[in-house]
Amino acid sequence: MVSALTCYNLAMENLDKRPLIIAHRGASAHAPENTMPAFQIAYEQGADGIELDVMLSKDNRLIVIHDSTLDRTTNGKGNVLDHTISELHGLDAGAWLNETFQNTKLPLLDEVYEQFGGKFLINVELKNYHNPKDELPDVALALTQKHDLLDHVIFSSFNPRNIVRLKKLDSRAKTGLLCLPGFAGSLFRGPIGRLFGYNALHPHFSDVTESTGKRAHKNKNQVNVWTVNKTEDLIRMRSIGVDAIITDDPQHAKSVLEQ
Ligand code: G3P
Ligand code: CA
Repeated sequence: MVSALTCYNLAMENLDKRPLIIAHRGASAHAPENTMPAFQIAYEQGADGIELDVMLSKDNRLIVIHDSTLDRTTNGKGNVLDHTISELHGLDAGAWLNETFQNTKLPLLDEVYEQFGGKFLINVELKNYHNPKDELPDVALALTQKHDLLDHVIFSSFNPRNIVRLKKLDSRAKTGLLCLPGFAGSLFRGPIGRLFGYNALHPHFSDVTESTGKRAHKNKNQVNVWTVNKTEDLIRMRSIGVDAIITDDPQHAKSVLEQ
């Protein structure tokens, strides 16, 4: 199924269908985060897209993983950056959650694009927070261009350098500036953040009010909030008029928002 909502530009204009439901690290309430089963379940549950985390391996390839170390979500140990792509790809990224997911591999971004590219929106969070000036935005953009997926991908990051760099390399790239919750993210949520030239603001949902939504839309920016799981919070975000909700459980979000 390739609906009109799969295209970022069309999604921006599709006021009736808002908010889009984006599965955080895939349908991470149902499967190990940032794995192909989590992305597949999100697709089957009717999510409008997935959010995933990427970083560079030792040999400058793109691996999909949230933490900068392997210990929590794989059977490996140590820093992601200290391992080659073939070492990373050989790790088990499912058994930590549940033995039914044993032998689930850490995915390459290339594989995710191959399997899901064009089927729904893919929000690629660039996670080079330990090495903020590395080539992650360049490498991720090049792969997205190679797959011809610029209209189906939005890059996001807490690192504003990535946002600026992507636009400099290719003005067609869609970008979202992630903001930390509370006071720590307040500068990015205001006029200073806009200097980075993002397409969308990605604030924590607890910081979003009706005026946040109105201000962003006046500036022709989207507001995509994370990570919203509770029924009352989903309803509040819809009433504010956010464009997309990033959630661990797309099935639950859909059932609430379709009521
Ligand atoms: O994109 C929103 C959210 O994913 C940012 O936080 O830690 O889950 O990557 P985190
Ligand atoms: Ca993320």
